[in-house]
Amino acid sequence: MSRRHFLSAAIVALVALCLVATGPVLAGKRTRDRAVLQAVQQRLDRDIERRIDSLLRRMTLEEKLNQLTLLSDGQMKENPAEARKPVGSVFSETDPVLINRYQRDAVENSRLGIPILFAFDTIHGFRTVFPIPLGAASSFDPNVAQTDHRIGAFESAAVGLKQIYSPMVDLSHEPRWGRIAEAAGEDPYLNSVMAAARVKGAQGNDYSDPDKVVTSVKHFAAYGQPEAGRDYNTTDMSIQRLWNLYLPPFKAAVDAGSDTLMCAFNALNGVPACANRYLETRILKREWGFDGFIESDYTAVAELRACPGVNPTGGPCGHGVAEDGREAARLALNAGTDSEMVSTNFRDFGRQLVASGEVSMRRIDDAVRRILRIKFRAGLFENPYVDVAAAPGKQLLPENRAAARRAAGRSTVLLKNDGGVLPLDPSKSTAIIGPLGNSKHDMLGPWWGRGDDIDVVSLFEGMQAQNANTTFTPGCTLSHNELYDPDNECATDAGFPAAVAAAQAADQVVLALGETREMSGEAESRSMLDLPGLQEELIEAIKATGKPFAVVLFNGRPLVLEEVVENSPAILEAWFPGVEAGNAVADVLYGRVNPGGKLPVSFPRNEGQIPIYYNHEPTGRPCDIGSRYNSRHRDILSCAPQYEFGYGLSYTTFRVSNLRLSSATMDARRGSITASVDVTNTGSRAGDEVAQLYINDPVASISQPVRRLRGFERVTLQPGQMRTVTWTLDRDDVGFYDNRGRFRVENGRIDVYAGNTSIQIDNKQSFTVTGGVRANAGKRRGK
Ligand code: NOJ
Repeated sequence: MSRRHFLSAAIVALVALCLVATGPVLAGKRTRDRAVLQAVQQRLDRDIERRIDSLLRRMTLEEKLNQLTLLSDGQMKENPAEARKPVGSVFSETDPVLINRYQRDAVENSRLGIPILFAFDTIHGFRTVFPIPLGAASSFDPNVAQTDHRIGAFESAAVGLKQIYSPMVDLSHEPRWGRIAEAAGEDPYLNSVMAAARVKGAQGNDYSDPDKVVTSVKHFAAYGQPEAGRDYNTTDMSIQRLWNLYLPPFKAAVDAGSDTLMCAFNALNGVPACANRYLETRILKREWGFDGFIESDYTAVAELRACPGVNPTGGPCGHGVAEDGREAARLALNAGTDSEMVSTNFRDFGRQLVASGEVSMRRIDDAVRRILRIKFRAGLFENPYVDVAAAPGKQLLPENRAAARRAAGRSTVLLKNDGGVLPLDPSKSTAIIGPLGNSKHDMLGPWWGRGDDIDVVSLFEGMQAQNANTTFTPGCTLSHNELYDPDNECATDAGFPAAVAAAQAADQVVLALGETREMSGEAESRSMLDLPGLQEELIEAIKATGKPFAVVLFNGRPLVLEEVVENSPAILEAWFPGVEAGNAVADVLYGRVNPGGKLPVSFPRNEGQIPIYYNHEPTGRPCDIGSRYNSRHRDILSCAPQYEFGYGLSYTTFRVSNLRLSSATMDARRGSITASVDVTNTGSRAGDEVAQLYINDPVASISQPVRRLRGFERVTLQPGQMRTVTWTLDRDDVGFYDNRGRFRVENGRIDVYAGNTSIQIDNKQSFTVTGGVRANAGKRRGK
């Protein structure tokens, strides 16, 4: 080696050494959360608009009304002639042969040859099922959500689908609600990042690509806050809450390019979402410039009617804002709903409504234009058919299973690990005990797409693959009845002696507990959130053996874990992990993967605390269990949840320190500041930490949440390694919406917190916003 080469090699080595010691500084580089939120610029394509003009000129009213009709697979099977009309869209048909047959009728046997848009609920996977979205959100890694939807789109498109009813972005503070499983939890920022990641994963840069689909973001809006947590129930909230909490993930999805959207079942402040002009037309279409189409949720237009339903007789009804189907169609169309799912009031009454002038021809044309626009953008006119022979070869590919395994591992959250019970030693004998220990069915969660139980790796199988010395004993079983079935939900301890014997015969025990997949998802609300049946007693029985054990939880919502926490040294939250469940959880239990997820939602101590969430507003009497006349529960000796948003442990330890801001002030109009923290792995294993950035506006014209997440980054660090993470904050971060839905950036102090959970207080800095509007109390301009 020449002297010059030796010198440069030495310099490179020195720099590399410094990087390992201190870690690269990410300053200047955008964090992944911000990168994924980057808006996609959509422009109207003149050529497409001209082609739509030409079609609209030739279409009869009947043909137009058929475009506004969205039918299910079952409806199509009952009346395949719908394809020749043709109807606008069909959902839940996933047989490529049938899809091509319908499409051929639409394209070759209808007067104008307009193709059908085929849709499906690919929520967390089509055949390769990923973790439920609440689990994926625990990864705090947008890549997990993006990969899920990239693969979901690929497999869906392979059978001829071109639209997916996802992402579901319904923020929720309601763990009783079963659909909390389907979105990213209680925070608007995390929901926004995950929503944008899913849209970009499914659509790519251009969803006419044969492997891509258009997304439909849902359920617009505020569906995640039904009263008492009962699905479909009414929602009533202030306008500022709607704008600050529930709308941002929709805006993020639309900005990311989501070209279709589904209106929700619920009423918002008395006005059903699919007849809500304020939501659909004023906010979505006008203010946000959404130029795609809105489909109703399943029979949501018919449900606008009072009960019993008339004109047509019978059928779904209940909201009581429309006298009959005709009025329901009028309200929904005029509010901005473009396409009607399952019920057919648009088509049945459209002619009358146009003739009477109650719905304008302009509105009908606008709805048709929006639907045709998406079909053109999707390339359906050029490529209406799917390659049937190629479809099976694109499902469940090994590399996609591997991605699902990685995603599931990254989505686990280590809740407790006293005495370092975990990771387990793969050379020791292991007893898997519990009703979910060898379940395949439950691992797929409540939206399994076209996932098949037989494809799933159960926990027992996954553990056995990494350690042949593994046994399985259920202890008790859980019912898969769709209705409440307490007599069969781990209702007897008859299997406990066998479980205890298995534990005694092993060196270490894993208890696989939780919910069945029937207990969460649509229409599956629970009032009690503990482990169903005698599962807690099963923990006690195993504890009494004195064997080291860890509880693994499979579930679709935050659970009440007080007893579990009291009796278990280690708890791993695995959610419903998907098709690779057993392999992924075994990776974590045996330490091949170090858990690094964080909770995207608070776990209450008991049901009486609900709703309990980190981003709550302050009160004049903050909770204090040690005194009276404040906002406490007399019978809960803590103001905190069991586990808070952002919480999660690792097999190593981390320090998040040295929060610093680039400036003491920020101009409200064009200014920005950066906030940086150092994240250090202080333990002896490599691992992941999620650095989290929160802000609080202590004095504002509307009480601001005590904390608001505004940045996060999951980093992987070797022992001793340190990394600096830097986020940029600007007016979008410090501002908020008022009770008229107007965005305000107010002058005054903003407190910034950083850490690895939402309650940390040791990293705090403040800066002052200037040049904005005056808050009405306690602040003066520039102070
Ligand atoms: C009803 C659900 O609310 C919605 O999420 C889903 O997309 C439709 N059914 C279609 O399956």
